[in-house]
Parts: sequence; C-alpha cells; structure tokens
Amino acid sequence: MQVLVLAMVVVGGGASSLTPPGPPASPWMDTSLCPTTDSLTLCQMRKVECGGLNQLLSPPGGVLHAITTCANATSLTLPPRFFMSIGMAFVHGQPESLADHVTSDPTDSTALRRCVLNATGLLDPETLTLNRSAVATSARGLLASPELGDAVASSVQTCPEPVAFSVENFLSCVKAACITNADKSPLVSRAKGVLSSSPTKDPAPAHKSLFKAPVLLPFLSP
Ligand SMILES: *[C@@H]1O[C@H](CO)[C@@H](O)[C@H](O)[C@H]1NC(C)=O
Ligand SMILES: *[C@@H]1O[C@H](CO)[C@@H](O)[C@H](O)[C@H]1NC(C)=O
Ligand SMILES: *[C@@H]1O[C@H](CO)[C@@H](O)[C@H](O)[C@H]1NC(C)=O
Repeated sequence: MQVLVLAMVVVGGGASSLTPPGPPASPWMDTSLCPTTDSLTLCQMRKVECGGLNQLLSPPGGVLHAITTCANATSLTLPPRFFMSIGMAFVHGQPESLADHVTSDPTDSTALRRCVLNATGLLDPETLTLNRSAVATSARGLLASPELGDAVASSVQTCPEPVAFSVENFLSCVKAACITNADKSPLVSRAKGVLSSSPTKDPAPAHKSLFKAPVLLPFLSP
C-alpha cells in the first residue's frame, strides 16, 4: 500500500509538482549560495558558521519587537497578514522582511523601516545612511572566527546602501560573502578536509535532487 502510494505519486508526475518552483521549501536544503563543489554537509556547515549574521541589524529586543513598537509610534495598525508572515520570515532568516507586511502605503512603509533601522543604533543620524564601521564591528561580534570576521567586515564596506531603509539587499550581500568565505573559519576548513579525505565519502550531490527525498518521506510513514 505504501509502495503503491509512492508509485502513484511518481507515475503521476506528482514528484515534480510537489516541489514548487523557486527556492526549496526548507532553507536548510537551499545550497544556492555555496560553491557548487560543496557537499550538502559542507554547505550546511557554512550556513551554521554564518548563522549569527541573522542578528545583524537586529535592534535590541529583536526585529519583531521593534516593528510593533515602531508601528505604534507611526500610528499603524498591524494587519492579519503581518502576523501570518511571522513564522516563515523567521524560518527563512529574514525577519526584517516583516516590515513590508504592515502597510502598502509607501510613505508609511518608509517611515516604519526608518524607525526600525534607527532602533539598531547603526544608522548615522546626520546622513541617515548605515554607519558601516559600527555595522562591521557588530558583524565581527556575531561570528566566532576572526578570520571570517575580517572577510565579512570588508563586505560590509562594499555591500549596497539600503534604499528607503530597506535592508534586504544589504543583508543578503553580507550573508553571501560570509558563506563564500566560511572556509576561512578554522572549524569549517577542518570539516572540509575531514569530509574530503573520509573513506565513507560524504554522500551528497548537494546541488542535485537530494531535497526531494524529504518531500516523499511522509508517504512512506505509517
Ligand atoms: C500604542 O500603544 C498604546 C499603549 O502602549 C496603546 O494605548 C495604543 O492603542 C497603541 N496604538 C496603536 C495604534 O496600536
Ligand atoms: C533614533 O533613535 C534615537 C535613539 O536611539 C532617538 O533618540 C531618535 O529620536 C530616533 N530618530 C528617529 C528619526 O527615529
Ligand atoms: C559610527 O559608529 C562608531 C562606532 O560605534 C562611532 O564611534 C562613530 O561616531 C559613528 N559615526 C557616526 C557618523 O555616527
């Protein structure tokens, strides 16, 4: 019976329709930022090493708290879609995107994002641009390895300035630089060596269809 269900799914072409286009459902399986030569294990290790950066530009008390406080200060009422977006925003490590689910009015939206970014204390009050040296210091503090910290701090100087206080592109740029450089961390570097010399080779075409397996697994469970 279990085999039958699986067979029907595969024959019906269901396997591909179960996997929506675009990024994989689980960010854990998203290997798009890693070098194509990485195994899945090594790619995941890079992401763990850079995971602290999810707190970069996070105000004291967290983004969620800042957004609700700033919405109140700007007399905005939080709509249902804001609350409905919270889970996935955090799963994907992009809580800052929640500010875009509060209002569709561009002026209110900009004021809200300005308030949230200002709450980090990392905005230069004169120019209303990022204080890059302060952001670089903060980024170093979120990473365990000073060598990786150096690489990320230099990306902080060159990543694009937020437009209308929208920090998504800046953060993606910094996180991408971190993942690319993660093997500058001694721990990831050691893992890379161990995995490549292990007799039971790390099983993983990271960029192939491996992420389809967990999609099918529920059909096999009783
Ligand atoms: C803002 O907060 C105050 C008290 O903290 C509350 O009385 C008021 O209703 C809130 N305003 C909005 C727009 O949510
Ligand atoms: C920015 O934050 C500071 C406190 O960190 C506050 O005094 C100031 O009023 C805020 N400015 C804006 C434009 O929100
Ligand atoms: C930027 O941040 C640094 C470190 O926090 C601080 O010393 C400096 O005064 C800030 N610069 C501006 C222009 O706010």
